[in-house]
Amino acid sequence: MIARKSIDEVMENARIDEVVADFVNLKRRGSNMIGLCPFHNEKTPSFSVSPSKNIFKCFGCGRGGDSVRFVMEHEGYEYVEAIRYLAEKYGIKLEETKADAETLQAERERETIYKVLDFALAFFKKQLTETEEGQLAGLNYLKERGFRTKTIESFGLGYAPDQSNTLIKEAKKAGFTDEILKRAALMNQHGGDFFRNRVIFPIFNISGKPIAFAGRQMVSSDRGPKYLNSPETEVYLKRKVLYGIYNAKKAIRQEENCYLVEGYTDVLSLFQSGVENVVASSGTALTPDQIRLIRRYTNRITILFDSDPAGIKAAMRGLDLILEENMDVRLALLPEGDDPDSFIRREGLANFQQYMAEQSKDFILFKTQLLLKEAAGDPMRKSALVKDLVETLARIPESIKRSAFITECAHLMKIDEHILVRETNKAITEFIRQKQRGIPRDIAQSEKETQDKIFQEEAKTASASVVGLSELTDAFQERDIIRILLNYGHKEIPDPGFSSLAEYIFASLDEILDDFEHTVYKKIILEYKTMLDESKAISPTHFTNHTDPEIQHLTVELLTTPYEYASWEEHDIPLQIQLHPDENYKLDAHNAILRLKLKVVMQHIAENMNLISKFQEEGNEEDMIIHMRMHNDLIKIREQMTSQFKNVVLKV
Ligand code: CTP
Ligand code: MN
Repeated sequence: MIARKSIDEVMENARIDEVVADFVNLKRRGSNMIGLCPFHNEKTPSFSVSPSKNIFKCFGCGRGGDSVRFVMEHEGYEYVEAIRYLAEKYGIKLEETKADAETLQAERERETIYKVLDFALAFFKKQLTETEEGQLAGLNYLKERGFRTKTIESFGLGYAPDQSNTLIKEAKKAGFTDEILKRAALMNQHGGDFFRNRVIFPIFNISGKPIAFAGRQMVSSDRGPKYLNSPETEVYLKRKVLYGIYNAKKAIRQEENCYLVEGYTDVLSLFQSGVENVVASSGTALTPDQIRLIRRYTNRITILFDSDPAGIKAAMRGLDLILEENMDVRLALLPEGDDPDSFIRREGLANFQQYMAEQSKDFILFKTQLLLKEAAGDPMRKSALVKDLVETLARIPESIKRSAFITECAHLMKIDEHILVRETNKAITEFIRQKQRGIPRDIAQSEKETQDKIFQEEAKTASASVVGLSELTDAFQERDIIRILLNYGHKEIPDPGFSSLAEYIFASLDEILDDFEHTVYKKIILEYKTMLDESKAISPTHFTNHTDPEIQHLTVELLTTPYEYASWEEHDIPLQIQLHPDENYKLDAHNAILRLKLKVVMQHIAENMNLISKFQEEGNEEDMIIHMRMHNDLIKIREQMTSQFKNVVLKV
């Protein structure tokens, strides 16, 4: 463990502008600095760094925080990894709290396992390129399959010779023990090489260290499987690993999408053809850990599976899990007989991209259509089908997104939307009950419990299918922000960049405070901000005892509003279930702010369009062009925002 004191030292030394400048080109703008946001695609800068507050904030995608948060988000690091990174940058020696002798010993052994895996990687590579056997058998095979030297190098491909213990002998000469070789899964039961006569695909962890290998036969034979994989070891937990993630992570973030394929060679082929945002689950069912790995970089997954029944089934297995992680999922089935490797090899990059654009479908709608096809001509199957579908719908934690899907599914299936809503609500209730019953009393499960809890809380916000959207047109958003501010503004939040929820809210609202329309809401929020800036203690009583009767009246109403429902129960009117707000203020605030901003942007768009028509009528071409450019920028901002609401088509 890193000593608290060292962490503090890192935090004191890390300057946000310097940390960010390693990745983003920053320009001075007043007391702040601005640049193109590294977290989403943009052409005009909305990414802002405040050296005085020592934080960053993107007004496009909403990401913000301190140096640690930036490094975590940008590099996909865990907290401790980010601290280590910053310590290195600033030459700070981290003091580790005294671990007991046993822990230290275990750590040293782990290091040795990584070392021997590194050794093996170098060995396999050398065998492939520098020995005659490797070149003839391995390299030729790879070249014949069309893999170029650069690809072979980027993925560290290698060759295991057709002898019983070449690697083991060399490793021992280099000082590695049998025990370590076994623990790294490089030695078989007979003390010989684990991999023999195979081309080697190293499996790298997220920071680029080799942690395991897969070996492929070069000619099919009945001697052993086509692919032989390292078994799990201390450093290789299959459920936490995705093949190709190290090479893909940069492109995943840039493209804001991650292709998920089945095989090693699919990854290689796509990558070499220019689709670099690709990883493989490598023959196993997708796990929540793998999904979270992807989510460090993007919340959109496009699953690319063979169109045979096995492929479809494999894709379906991943679906519910991905939905539970609140990710956007799209799915593309390849033409019959193809896998991604064969497809892109034959069709090339441009056709691949076109195919994806045309064929990739929203996962739930994909499922609906698939089920409909199955049930065609069989009315009895339709109710079973609805059941299957609502099981899936129930797993979407985000209410607006779920509502949009319900509407579309109902339309596709030609059933009453209200029925689908009601059935989905039932399924959510049942789903939560099951989860609660199913949680074993095991400490190792605590992570899962936290996840479940988050899910339950989010699921409880299951409000409104149609409501969410029409609310965009009144002062609801402003009111909601005031409600959250008054009730929870003083609370701490888990974001190290802000000391309270109120700070987070104001940092996010900075540029649109003046856009508040409702006079009383505006008065309240400005007064709150002044007090916060002057670091006065703020308590709701300040407003409930306010001299301005309007403010007083409103505050009291907002503090006592019946926003929660006592328990889960079936209501006649669909979707009246609300979350207990005490438990969800950060998410609540985030959503409320997003809604308000969206509304403000929509208003700007409308005003700007009026101006465009006016200039057009006047024949004032110069101003018209300026405002048309503005229009494009505004539309882009709107798209970024709506994409955060996921799949909601705004009918405005
Ligand atoms: N796989 C495995 N063990 C096997 C077969 C397959 O681990 N005996 C995994 C591998 O990760 C493989 C994936 O399942 O990449 C998909 O298998 P398959 O479609 O058979 O292989 P391809 O990836 O198409 O490999 P190739 O193109 O080399 O035949
Ligand atoms: Mn293949």
